[in-house]
Amino acid sequence: MTDLISIKQAPEYVGKEVKMHVWLTDKRSSGKIMFLQLRDGTAFFQGVLLKKDVSEEKFDLAKSLRQEASFYITGVINEDERSHFGYEIKISDLELVSNTEDYPIGNKEHGIDFLLDHRHLWLRSRRPFAIMQIRNEMINATYDFFKKEGFIKFDAPILMNSAPEGTTELFHIEYFDNDAYLSQSGQLYAEVGAEAFGKVFTFGPTFRAEKSKTRRHLTEFWMIEPEMAWTHQDESLDVQERYISYLVKRVIDNCEYELNILGRDVEKLRPAAEGNYTRLKYDDAVKMLQDAGRDFKWGDDFGAPDEAYISEQFDRPVFIMNYPTSIKPFYMKKDPENPKEYLCADMLAPEGYGEIVGGSEREENFDVLKAQIEEAGLNLENYEWYLDLRRYGSVPHSGFGLGFERAITWICHLDHLREAIPFPRMINRMEP
Ligand code: 4AD
Ligand code: MG
Repeated sequence: MTDLISIKQAPEYVGKEVKMHVWLTDKRSSGKIMFLQLRDGTAFFQGVLLKKDVSEEKFDLAKSLRQEASFYITGVINEDERSHFGYEIKISDLELVSNTEDYPIGNKEHGIDFLLDHRHLWLRSRRPFAIMQIRNEMINATYDFFKKEGFIKFDAPILMNSAPEGTTELFHIEYFDNDAYLSQSGQLYAEVGAEAFGKVFTFGPTFRAEKSKTRRHLTEFWMIEPEMAWTHQDESLDVQERYISYLVKRVIDNCEYELNILGRDVEKLRPAAEGNYTRLKYDDAVKMLQDAGRDFKWGDDFGAPDEAYISEQFDRPVFIMNYPTSIKPFYMKKDPENPKEYLCADMLAPEGYGEIVGGSEREENFDVLKAQIEEAGLNLENYEWYLDLRRYGSVPHSGFGLGFERAITWICHLDHLREAIPFPRMINRMEP
């Protein structure tokens, strides 16, 4: 029996006859020989069909195939050093499943809006293929890392009545007779998890009604939010550094083919896999901007160009610690040595990408936290359960959130977050 294999398995079958199910991405022929460019979701490679090897009827069938036709092929796998993939199949038989007409995405350049309108089909192309494979590797690496470090995966709800990251970017929904919001962050629930299980991480979609059209904002994005009881901010930074180093290492080790498709300069990525991320204070970062002649006042939040400038000064991610309390959310713990600052940090990705992680130590004192909730103008009633975590067995604890598409955008070296998620949601895009 001939084995039915995927393109990715081809290297294990050199010289052997195999069967495959494939789609056609492109075709070239010169009379007696035909080159079929094939994909199956695991990789892309070439099938070679010689007129003399098949019946006239089969050769005509091959000639009639259009882009995205689906079919079975039988043939022998050969090495092919000229191709990107390194292997090809010499086809001896072919069985049509469905032919197509007028596939909208040709093998020419299309504008980004056209491609996004056809995202349901565009995902089949090489570039989205490579990005989604890398995304998948990063998902698996995340689960592996946190399992290895003794965390459990803990699911936060999506429907909430609290607003952890401020009330301006909330998606409001009618929830029967009440108001509810789509989750901006699973953090407050992750804190519940930390006191119940020690170390947890959430991984789910989060929502921000971002009115700004930028290359760094989606209205729906995925976040990984680890939360650790008995853990101070400096220890949390150690975990962040190990996690991001591990993510990058896994992609470099396991996604060579995909990084190649994207033309990613892996040497620029490599330092991030080595750890040793600089820990800079907000004050120092401000000074850095001012020394460079940039117009920036202490107390302001960094804009994208400021973060880009800072992150370009380093060959790997950098932490900016101790932001002024006025520009960060209510749940953070003040630095006992400087109550104008929180024990917090953002991690900026290199090559100008800017913030990918935000995190902090959490205020564990009941009275202080209660006052901070009130100062933020939030409704105390909705935070009673959160305050219970400080009433009963409160301990120092810290956590952080990685914006998953931000990390993918950097690792893949994309210029916009919209390519890092299968179906991007932005202020003016809900389709498909
Ligand atoms: O900095 P943020 O707002 O932090 C939190 O939500 C904390 N509760 C996390 C925690 O401590 N558990 O968001 C965290 C990260 C940012 O660093 C950024 O990478 C990403 O989420 N992010 C977005 N990504 C895409 N589109 C948006 N609109 C984003 N807003 C934030
Ligand atoms: Mg942030």
